[in-house]
Amino acid sequence: MAIIYSDTSKEIHIFNDQISYIIQILDNGELGNLYYGKKVDHKEDFSYLLEGGLRSLAVYTKEDDYFMSPQYTKMEYPCAGRGDFREPAYEICQENGSRIVCMEYQGHEIYKGKKQLEGLPATYVENAEEADTVEILLTDKLLQLDCILSYTVFRDYPVLTRNVRFVNRGSQKVALERVLSASIDLPDAEYEMLSLTGAWARERYPKARKLAHGVQGTGSRCGCSSAEFNPFLALKRPGASENLGEVLGFSLVYSGNHMEQVCVDTCDMARVQLGIHPEGFEWELNTGEAFQSPEAVMVYSCQGLNGMSQTYHKLYRTRLARGYWRDRERPILINNWEATGAAFTEESILRIAKTGKELGMELFVLDDGWFGKREDDRSGLGDWYVTNYEKLPDGIEGLAGKIKKMGMRFGLWFEPEMVNKDSDLYRSHPDWILCAPGRIPSPSRNQYVLDFSRPEVVAYIYGLMEKILSSGDISYVKWDMNRYITECYSAKKTEREQGKVFHQYILGVYALYERLTKAFPEILFESCSSGGARFDPGMLYYAPQTWTSDDTDAMERVRIQYGTSYVYPLSSMGAHVSEVPNQQTGRVTPLKTRANAAMFGVFGYELDLSQMTELEKAEIKGQVQFVKAHRHLIQHGVFYRLLNPFEGREAGWIVVSEDQSEALAAYYQMSAEPNGPWKRLKLAGLCPEKKYIVDGEDARVYSGSELMNVGIIVKKESLCANGGDYSSKVYYLREKA
Ligand code: DGJ
Repeated sequence: MAIIYSDTSKEIHIFNDQISYIIQILDNGELGNLYYGKKVDHKEDFSYLLEGGLRSLAVYTKEDDYFMSPQYTKMEYPCAGRGDFREPAYEICQENGSRIVCMEYQGHEIYKGKKQLEGLPATYVENAEEADTVEILLTDKLLQLDCILSYTVFRDYPVLTRNVRFVNRGSQKVALERVLSASIDLPDAEYEMLSLTGAWARERYPKARKLAHGVQGTGSRCGCSSAEFNPFLALKRPGASENLGEVLGFSLVYSGNHMEQVCVDTCDMARVQLGIHPEGFEWELNTGEAFQSPEAVMVYSCQGLNGMSQTYHKLYRTRLARGYWRDRERPILINNWEATGAAFTEESILRIAKTGKELGMELFVLDDGWFGKREDDRSGLGDWYVTNYEKLPDGIEGLAGKIKKMGMRFGLWFEPEMVNKDSDLYRSHPDWILCAPGRIPSPSRNQYVLDFSRPEVVAYIYGLMEKILSSGDISYVKWDMNRYITECYSAKKTEREQGKVFHQYILGVYALYERLTKAFPEILFESCSSGGARFDPGMLYYAPQTWTSDDTDAMERVRIQYGTSYVYPLSSMGAHVSEVPNQQTGRVTPLKTRANAAMFGVFGYELDLSQMTELEKAEIKGQVQFVKAHRHLIQHGVFYRLLNPFEGREAGWIVVSEDQSEALAAYYQMSAEPNGPWKRLKLAGLCPEKKYIVDGEDARVYSGSELMNVGIIVKKESLCANGGDYSSKVYYLREKA
């Protein structure tokens, strides 16, 4: 790994054993991009990659010099208004109304390691040898405005991270109207663009389309990363598959409004961009002030989509997630939400917890309904203390103590960012919600969004949460967010500051997370947003796991977890076995299949265990034991998608230990096929030369090559439900000693 600056060619080559990224300082002081892709050996001069020449209608950067026209050059961080008519990476309005900016190279600094971003989540290193960073300083001399582009290359991953910082050293105010975290011009557009799209209860479905001329992209304007579009896109070569071919991944470490797009010009260059969504964003920068963009994480894979995903998984699991629980085996939990909703009593809670304990579960999570006057979703949010002693006679402290006495950990649900009008908090501070003057705030689930752009609001919520979390023995927090943001106007801000509110809101969320995780380092945080509407890398920095979806139907979960796995590791996906008929789909799937789907995530249960038959309880006990035996492998192994549930009746995946000595593979029959073909499940990731035994199948010994090239014979009769609708099987493979 190295970052080399060549003074003669004015090039910066950022590379490791797997990737190369080459920037050139152009004659006019701007930066151009010469190359991004698979590693090329270093040499002093790659300037032949800068193509230019005379073209009619083109605008040039210098008189009598018909070589460099911005419109036809691969620009590194393009501006608007000076001859590049494609989408700009940034836009800055000045006091005189001009948006013309001229950022010129001033110098750069190369150093070992990686700096953290102030107030923002980002990937990190544990020692400086793991990465090299270059910060390139550009300045607009007229405005005395600096733009610092930072690039980090990791030694062990085909990864480049980028972020941008603007610093105003001039005497006039400027308004940043667009600050994208990364922009990269690729020399051709022969790609399919893969996005993770969805909605509540069907989050992160993979959707691919061929790039076409013009702008195509995704984004969120709802104040959080959203169920609709994840902050991610990948470009995949047309022939690339799960295991072969070139794929470029782009992921944004951010939980607020975001945009990711590809702009293909009519000369077939593809400009990929991602960052904070420019709509509704305006950041006035006074003299001496700075603005920091979120981080973009670019992954290069020449081993198809699985290769890209595996890089994201390991990087995000070990160098984005942090803290006590990062590498620890996560407790198997039982959550009461689908069993009781908010209508529980201490007795019903203890009954579920007791059965959970008997069946081997380790953590009881009390969901929505324990605080304030919370009988349904019309009241109580904001009042994070117990007032209903009929429900919880000994408060949270008492209940936590009782659960602890049973030998289980205790966890609690919060929705810190929200308030109901029927709450003590709203009655005392009606101006603490986001709401435009003279307008009626739009309702959603009868709740309103607290103005987290205001530090005093965040401090107040911290105070309440801190009190509860210190009062009892609480090991886990589920942090929910059940509505999108509308009327994003802060009563405390001036007219010119309103464009900051969306971003400051999410900075407030991060600040609260940071404070709580520092104060309670051993509490396991799980983020959540009406299921998986804020499943993004930003959240993983604070909470190593996220509730993947409110849809707990096994077949839907196979799809959702399959899509989520394009970026996010199994260790981040909360996945629970729930009751049937399923509350979202009405589908009745076998208990075995529900567990077979949920165990490829952070495993738990979400049903009234006390109502289960003895037979079902015995089955659950076995599932819990099985997951305990294999959770290390599931959490730390290398994951491969095998059969795509969006393409047919089957799904399959495998997680293989890093030393390839064991693996857990799963096959799911999404719907039965009458008189169908014989089935084989071709595995991946095993060591071809090693010998494996497939537990519970037969006494045969298979070579890894056999299991990967021929496959496991999937016998209908060995699937639960005899190979009918929603049947499945999990295969445990271990190396033969
Ligand atoms: C939405 C979450 O996704 C559910 O799991 C549950 O916590 C409810 N909110 C509670 O209101």
